[in-house]
Formats: sequence, structure tokens, C-alpha cells
Amino acid sequence: MKLIDGKTISDKIKSNLVDEVKKLKASGITPGLAVLLVGDDPASHTYVKMKESSCEKTGIYSIVHKMPSDISQEKIIETIEMMNKNPNIDGILVQLPLPKHIDTDLILQTIDPKKDVDGFHPYNVGKLTLGLDGFVPCTPLGVMEMLKEYDINPKGLDVCVVGASNIVGKPMHDLLLNEFATVDICHIFTKDLKEHTKRADMVIVGVGKPNLITDDMIKDGAIVIDIGINKLDSGKLVGDVDFENVSKKCSFITPVPGGVGPMTIAMLLKNTVKAANQRKTDD
Ligand code: GUN
Repeated sequence: MKLIDGKTISDKIKSNLVDEVKKLKASGITPGLAVLLVGDDPASHTYVKMKESSCEKTGIYSIVHKMPSDISQEKIIETIEMMNKNPNIDGILVQLPLPKHIDTDLILQTIDPKKDVDGFHPYNVGKLTLGLDGFVPCTPLGVMEMLKEYDINPKGLDVCVVGASNIVGKPMHDLLLNEFATVDICHIFTKDLKEHTKRADMVIVGVGKPNLITDDMIKDGAIVIDIGINKLDSGKLVGDVDFENVSKKCSFITPVPGGVGPMTIAMLLKNTVKAANQRKTDD
């Protein structure tokens, strides 16, 4: 079994981005990221702090716009429209989830697709489905980078993606299909999950349930990518895979923490630098 070390890969990507940002700055462009954070969900605050600190280390300018949980939808839209017009902002990220009274789809559709570094706008979702260049959601993009780094080519592989969210599962499916994998996507209403995972050459799971994937569900020598992040009552962070037992059976596995997590932020920085480079071309 080989451990896929997301921390090392993400450090390498971030260090390359530092050089790219320096070049952009020399040409008069400082990449800028605006983050909109609504409410006081502790996990969202932690993620946003991590994003802010990574931007700073990479030389990317970032601002975090915080709003109370009872803010009106109109006010959020107004703020995004302001960010769309701001020439110093290349990327806009609305931290999810948003409070229940807010129409998340409408908010995401307000973001200028050219600044949509999360890749959640229907324009970029459509581009991904068609296999065209656009912004791709950071977590599944990070998984593809990890596979590339370990010379794992998805072409022809049977891949089972567990979880069909707009943020992870669906874009993961599209990216793998674009690389000619045969992709099976499972979700909460899948009748027999094990029947699907058991025959897969690669299982990718991101649903937020500790120990959902056990060793009896995995084929010998399969590749296992764990996108889940769960905090146990003890404070320990674990993924969705029973790592101890599954790792004995598979060829490659990602740990939690230190697997997919650090890649997500690296891809956000990469997408922001990509947006800044496109601003340069547009000028
Ligand atoms: N909440 C959980 N994951 C994400 C993500 O990738 N982007 C945003 N904006 N919010 C999230």
C-alpha cells in the first residue's frame, strides 16, 4: 500500500504559485481573492481563516467580507455585484453553506463566471461537462492533481464515486469521465452500496460519514480516495473510510488529515492565479 501524500504535493504546488505570483506582480497585477462569509458556523470560519492565511503566504491579496446570519439576500447580491466590478478582485468565493433563508443557487449565479474560482456557476459547470476549459471545483480538481502526481491514469478504470453533491461528487464524475474512466456514482438512495464499491478499481468517497467504507467493500489492490472530513467527539479528525483496515487491502490510499484537504486550498490558489492571468490577457 502506498500513501498519497496530499500535504507534500500541495506544498510543491503552492511553492510554484509563489513564483508565478511574483511574475504577475512584476507585470503590475496582484492576484486578489474576495471571500464572503455569512453567519457564524465554526467550521466555515476555520476554513476561511485557512484560505486567508494560504493567500497571504502565496502573495495573493485577499479580503474576507463577513456578514451576520440574518443578512438579507439583496444585501449579499449587492456585495457580490460590487466584487464583480472591483478590478483588484480576480476571484470571488462564497463560503457554503449559506443560511436557510438565502437562495444559494441565485447567489452563486450572481458571481461573474470569470471570477468564479470555486467553479460553482452554471456557466463553469456546463464547461466542465462539455470538457471545455473553465473553473473547476477545487476539491475534485485536487483529486485529479493527486492522481497525476502518482501516475494513476483514470483511462479505462472502473471508478465508483460515493456522494453526488454539486461541490464534490458531480464534478468528480465529470472530470473522470472526461479522462475516459467508467464512472459509477452512488448516493443516499443507492440500493446496495457495497455491490458498487466492491467491483471498482478506484473508490472516491466524500459524504461525511466516518467508517462508511469498510474493508469488505473494497476490491484487493483498489485505489481509495477519501474526501470526507469528520470530527469525532474525541476531537480526532477522520475521513469516511475505515483507514486502518482498508489500507491493508488497497494499492493507494489518501490519509485524513493530510490527503485531499490540503489539495483543496492549493487548487483555490491555483484558480485565483489562473483568473489573474486571464485578467492580464483581457487587459
Ligand atoms: N463549503 C464546503 N466546501 C466548500 C468549497 O469548496 N467552497 C465553498 N465556497 N464552500 C464550501
